[in-house]
Amino acid sequence: MSGSPDLPWKVRLFVSSLSFLVDVCRRSNGTFNRTLINLLDVKASPLKKPLNGLQSSDIVVDDSRNLWFRLYTPLQIPTHSRVPVIVYFHGGGFVLMSADSKTHDDFCQRLSRELPAVIVSVNYRLAPENRCPSAFEDGFDVLKFIDSAWFKDLLPVNADLKKCFVAGDSAGGNMAHQVAVKAAKHEFDQLDVVGIMALQPFLGGKERIESEIRLVGAPLINLDRTDWMWKAFLPEGSDRDHPAVNVSGPNSVDISDLKFPATMVVVAGFDPLQDWQKRYYQWLKKQGKEAKLIEYPDAIHGFYIFPELKESSLLIKDMRDFMQSKL
Ligand SMILES: *[C@@H]1O[C@H](CO)[C@@H](O)[C@H](O)[C@H]1NC(C)=O
Ligand SMILES: *[C@@H]1O[C@H](CO)[C@@H](O)[C@H](O)[C@H]1NC(C)=O
Ligand SMILES: *[C@@H]1O[C@H](CO)[C@@H](O)[C@H](O)[C@H]1NC(C)=O
Repeated sequence: MSGSPDLPWKVRLFVSSLSFLVDVCRRSNGTFNRTLINLLDVKASPLKKPLNGLQSSDIVVDDSRNLWFRLYTPLQIPTHSRVPVIVYFHGGGFVLMSADSKTHDDFCQRLSRELPAVIVSVNYRLAPENRCPSAFEDGFDVLKFIDSAWFKDLLPVNADLKKCFVAGDSAGGNMAHQVAVKAAKHEFDQLDVVGIMALQPFLGGKERIESEIRLVGAPLINLDRTDWMWKAFLPEGSDRDHPAVNVSGPNSVDISDLKFPATMVVVAGFDPLQDWQKRYYQWLKKQGKEAKLIEYPDAIHGFYIFPELKESSLLIKDMRDFMQSKL
């Protein structure tokens, strides 16, 4: 079987243009042409004034490494209810996209309104200019930053840092895991990470796994591209059994003794990465951690950025259910 479901033409066009551009921009010498990718990766400003019950603004954490986040605050929350905070990491193979990419800005707006939740969408450093572990350090630094006392002044009074989730899609799903591992070893003043939402986390290994081989021709993800991304991201001289890639593999960090939050792992039937993601889920269980696997058989990698796909709405409902089970 080769792999793509029926997709609306707009989705198909966006996905194939993005795949094409990524292939043109990634050079064989390991550098990436950022000028060219910005033709498709359109950027969006924060909201100038509240829109449909939502406000957003950009907050700088460290100018010297361009570390900042976009804060989304839902406005129409009954004063007696507490709103969870989600620290969110965008996808893009650790190489492309940013917190102000229109695709992810739109998605975070939807999440913030529809869940509802306060969202902290992190603009972390990208490869190949900044290799692993820069992105993970940036993610964890944002967690420490929002734990600081003065950050509370930026939050609505009913935002609840004791109900903090880390989440992300694709490379951001991998980051959510890595940042949660760091968080589980740290004492925060106010913040508590109560759950992880890994949406189609970008994981891998040296081995070729069944779904990667079977789903040749699937939208967005193929071995050529993922091999290139890992090479751009990993420290020079590492292979794909590095713990940042083969998270549950032979070099994995042992989390069995950590107080590790519950994880929701989302997989899609047309995503070549799905078998890695299922392995990750099994490994979490083996380590004695609470984990929930959510499968959408007809979905592709990156489906959530297309509100016209039905799984995109299902996902928001499943995220809401998972969060409510942890509140
Ligand atoms: C890689 O190739 C691009 C385009 O061919 C070139 O502009 C760039 O200087 C090269 N970079 C390195 C590090 O070799
Ligand atoms: C990126 O690609 C564009 C279009 O092909 C080209 O004009 C530009 O010179 C490239 N930039 C670099 C830095 O190689
Ligand atoms: C990656 O991790 C898996 C365990 O999830 C392990 O079976 C495998 O040997 C590792 N290495 C490769 C080469 O995939």
